[in-house]
Amino acid sequence: MCGIVGYVGKRNSQDILIDGLKKLEYRGYDSAGVAVYTTDGLQVKKSKGRLAVLESKLGEKPLSGTIGIGHTRWATHGKPSDENSHPHTDNSFKFSVVHNGIIENYISLKEELIAQGHVFVSETDTEVISHLIASLYEGDIVKAVQKAVSRMKGAFALGVLTEYEPDKLVAVRLSSPLIIGVGEGENFIGSDIPAILEYTRNVYILNDGEMAALTRDGVELMTLEGNFISRELFHVDWDIVTAEKAGFDHFMLKEIHEQPKAYRDTMGARLDESGQKVVLNEVGMTPEQIRAIRQVHIVACGTAYHAGLVGKSVIEKLARIPVETDVASEYRYRAPIITPETLVIVVSQSGETADTLAALREAKRCGARVLAITNVVGSSVAREADDVIVTWAGPEIAVASTKAYTSQLIAFYLFGLYLAQTLGTVDEAYIAEVAAGLQELPEKVESILAQADTIKEIAEQVSTHDNLFFIGRGLDYAVALEGSLKLKEISYIHSEAYAAGELKHGTLALIEEGIPVIALATQDDLFEKTVSNIKEVKARGAHVFGIHAEGDAELAKVVDHTFAIPATLPLLTPALSVVPLQLLAYYASLARGNDVDKPRNLAKSVTVE
Ligand code: AGP
Repeated sequence: MCGIVGYVGKRNSQDILIDGLKKLEYRGYDSAGVAVYTTDGLQVKKSKGRLAVLESKLGEKPLSGTIGIGHTRWATHGKPSDENSHPHTDNSFKFSVVHNGIIENYISLKEELIAQGHVFVSETDTEVISHLIASLYEGDIVKAVQKAVSRMKGAFALGVLTEYEPDKLVAVRLSSPLIIGVGEGENFIGSDIPAILEYTRNVYILNDGEMAALTRDGVELMTLEGNFISRELFHVDWDIVTAEKAGFDHFMLKEIHEQPKAYRDTMGARLDESGQKVVLNEVGMTPEQIRAIRQVHIVACGTAYHAGLVGKSVIEKLARIPVETDVASEYRYRAPIITPETLVIVVSQSGETADTLAALREAKRCGARVLAITNVVGSSVAREADDVIVTWAGPEIAVASTKAYTSQLIAFYLFGLYLAQTLGTVDEAYIAEVAAGLQELPEKVESILAQADTIKEIAEQVSTHDNLFFIGRGLDYAVALEGSLKLKEISYIHSEAYAAGELKHGTLALIEEGIPVIALATQDDLFEKTVSNIKEVKARGAHVFGIHAEGDAELAKVVDHTFAIPATLPLLTPALSVVPLQLLAYYASLARGNDVDKPRNLAKSVTVE
């Protein structure tokens, strides 16, 4: 996720910008840059790579000035490169912009600006903003930014600087975080509090749809329509480490709470204005190529593999194409039958997992088309695949994957609908129903998160055991696998996920008095069968925690505790039912005193086979 810093005051802005960007490094980035107003006008320095690369460039020729903006970029539109790094400018080099977020309608705006004679030098959506502001400027930067923002669709935070008004910094927030730091004779902007905490503890937290104009002597807060706002300053008494986690105790908990935003961002402009049709411009397959697909192989590791298991059900249900899901480390060695009619989908948060990459290469060697679902633009997987659907979850820092998994589910839903639209395999009304259901998910996740304390109590009970089971059927089984992995990796409690109907073929022998069983029963058509399996474990003394869809009162009669997820279409339940399991793992790990974000023996990115 990109990081923004801005400064206006009396000190050398370059140092403050670099220092602030260093404090935002935890957000993840692939390039960095600063723009400073100097005696020679607006000067920009930027480069791909770590901040040290930018620092050495600045070391050769420092930028001297007391107002500036800085940025760490986490690529979304266009690969990591010097050209795509921020700040971006217009052709006259009088306006400079840093941006976090996505401009959904940037293609149409870019076409319009090109027709007016603007020349673009990067692949980014951000560059459109600097050109747009330049084209709308009539002597007042605040008004020009307001006009530009009224033309932009998406989620974004902006920092804007112009040589025409070299004492003023403009900041905008629309669904991407931005705060204003208020000092003595100096003011700041930042994506996050740590960026400015060394200089001031007094901040204004901008709300969605608000903006600010900063000079060294003051800050004016206003709506995007220009109505002034008065607000109390917020005094930050967190230390820097807490501030990096936005007040959450761990990155994992922060990332669990970021899921509603990750869902919204991943859907973004991929649903058209009617909200009923999927638009996947990034998938270059023609309708003929889609019609020629005879089988789909989904290949991934760990949590991404579990997302692939849900992906299999989604694609088979919506597109009626046979799908196999494989663990990447097995795929290549089992001599899979791959033909040019096979679509291979590789799923990887990091895009660097060695086994997944090797499977991708094997698939390409055999002539298959490869589609990647990844969270990192410019990663190896993204570069080598034919088509890429980026999950816009933002960087995931905790080793235990949460928001990346659920964003992968959203990507599968979108791709499944896209195939169905092209192939005509399900009727339009059902496509519209699934699309509507998808858009309701973020709010439903929020309502689950609001019940975190209930899950915490269950987790504290579970944490005293050394073994437990997760059971479910169909999609519930796929989610059970993910719940079990999450619990294992951070709480170190042994657990097994079982297809509920399979227990009686051997594993039921392990069920004894008091053993906790987490039973998922969210699928209408499998509900009664699952209840029978729950009764089998209950009869042998298991203590059962049941997860079911709201409005269904039956489960409570057979289990010891229930947790209801909001009702949704059965196909979409994994995007909700996994959330209590993530919280369960988190609180169990906490109760056991483990290092939640950095579990033993594990690495975030596994780059060895
Ligand atoms: C899960 O919480 C893990 N950290 C792990 O299973 C992970 O999903 C796996 O290593 C794959 O990583 P990738 O998505 O970056 O390829």
